[in-house]
Amino acid sequence: METTAGPEQALTEKVLKAYSNIENPRLKFIVSVLIKHLHACVKEMQVTDDEWEFAWDFMERMAAMTGPERNEFLLFADVIGVSQLIETLNHEKPGQPVGFALVGPFLRANDPFRERGASIASDDTTGTRVRISGRVFDFETNTPIEGAILDTWQAATNGFYENQDPNQPDYNLRGRFRTDENGNFEIVALKPTAYPVPTDGPVGELLRAARRPPDRPAHIHFIVSAPGYETLVTQIFVNGDPIIEDDAVFTASRNMVGDFEKEGDHFRLTYDFPLKRGVSIMPKAPIAA
Ligand code: BEZ
Ligand code: FE
Repeated sequence: METTAGPEQALTEKVLKAYSNIENPRLKFIVSVLIKHLHACVKEMQVTDDEWEFAWDFMERMAAMTGPERNEFLLFADVIGVSQLIETLNHEKPGQPVGFALVGPFLRANDPFRERGASIASDDTTGTRVRISGRVFDFETNTPIEGAILDTWQAATNGFYENQDPNQPDYNLRGRFRTDENGNFEIVALKPTAYPVPTDGPVGELLRAARRPPDRPAHIHFIVSAPGYETLVTQIFVNGDPIIEDDAVFTASRNMVGDFEKEGDHFRLTYDFPLKRGVSIMPKAPIAA
């Protein structure tokens, strides 16, 4: 098939011109870059009618699985590396002491505040406990940050977050903790387990087509925030976990590992969170309260 660049290019330019009156300069820039690159994609792929129908049907099926409890679009961005790319662009500056991780689809709004040393796992939750303690401090001055908030969440040993599993109590394995006057915190959690991202929707089709394992290495999520400091969104992985390099969502890395040490019938983990001065903004929770 012979292709002529002329009419296609003229169409792209006409569309760009049609959107050139957007007032907000940032929105104008984003819309024009989007049009330019999407048109370039369609041209490079030489998208057929059938493929276009598949694409909008795929998006319709993603939308059907999306609501206040689940977001298939976010999961899609996660498995194609876009979510972690945004973290890297915005936060991974040279010398960054603790890595930034994507939020993922399982952060829930309004995690309950718990007392220092409390467990986020209900008594009947199966799994080995880990006592996590550490310090939140100013990265520049090393001074402790009192009243910093640590929001933490993790999957149960069956691989499910509380909102996916009717057998877990509401807000199980989720909680918020405050640091004391020395910036210290203490939390009891489960030693994390590896689990697969949800594969019952269009994202699962993509992973199977790519022959990619859906697994995430064992981890526990943390968002550490304090007024006047850049909010740290991170995850702690288990040092030595062989699948750290094969994270389904491209997040796990060596600057997010902790040493889980056996201590009797449980584990102990010491992990510090240095914060950098900046704007304190909480990410939006994909799961409603
Ligand atoms: C998670 O770690 O909770 C997660 C992140 C991205 C996709 C699925 C799950
Ligand atoms: Fe997770």
